[in-house]
Amino acid sequence: MKFFIDTANLAHIKEAQDLGILDGVTTNPSLMAKEGIKGTENIINHYKTICEIVPNGDISAEVLSTDFASIVEEGKKLAAIHKNIIVKVPMIKDGIKAIKWFTDNGIKTNCTLVFSAGQAILAAKAGATYVSPFIGRIDDSGWEGTQLIGQIANIYSLQGFTTEILAASIRNANHIIQCAELGADVCTCPLDAILALLKHPLTDIGLAKFLEDAKKM
Ligand code: E4P
Repeated sequence: MKFFIDTANLAHIKEAQDLGILDGVTTNPSLMAKEGIKGTENIINHYKTICEIVPNGDISAEVLSTDFASIVEEGKKLAAIHKNIIVKVPMIKDGIKAIKWFTDNGIKTNCTLVFSAGQAILAAKAGATYVSPFIGRIDDSGWEGTQLIGQIANIYSLQGFTTEILAASIRNANHIIQCAELGADVCTCPLDAILALLKHPLTDIGLAKFLEDAKKM
């Protein structure tokens, strides 16, 4: 399973990259706004910087347009920033048309805001590189978000779809573990969820004891 970090915060991206386990970065307009990134030039420069920090990773850059022609124009500009840019397109009718256009023209895509298996089927039919089911937001609405990962994985396997399942809206380490068990190809996570995977009290107790005993060596 690949690990992406879900942030536009450069310090968090650097920290995850330094761990040596990072395969990419996802951003969205809310995450960019949180970092105070405003205006086309600043947005493009921010994506360039992220691509420099994670030189071998897939970097999702989300379009803000919602009609076919504008999504295609915006996506072409985003894709031109760097060879590793993945154009992130919302799961709407014009978005699916645009994903098909990008697929036919060699531009990789991430279909975002996916909340059902039906939407995931459409994204795969259009040739999306990644499909992003939003686990945490489904949990927030009172359903079991991770069930959707298993359902999509089963459908894609039965149907031979090659679109990769990018589990998004991850809130904690348990989400990551469940997504791994259920067949997600990628998890995109905030830094604290990735770091939470490190933690176990018995590790801390065991290390303290080893270090104590090492003084007697
Ligand atoms: C990633 O691609 C998504 O935009 C992101 O995971 C959404 O997460 P959130 O539900 O925590 O905002």
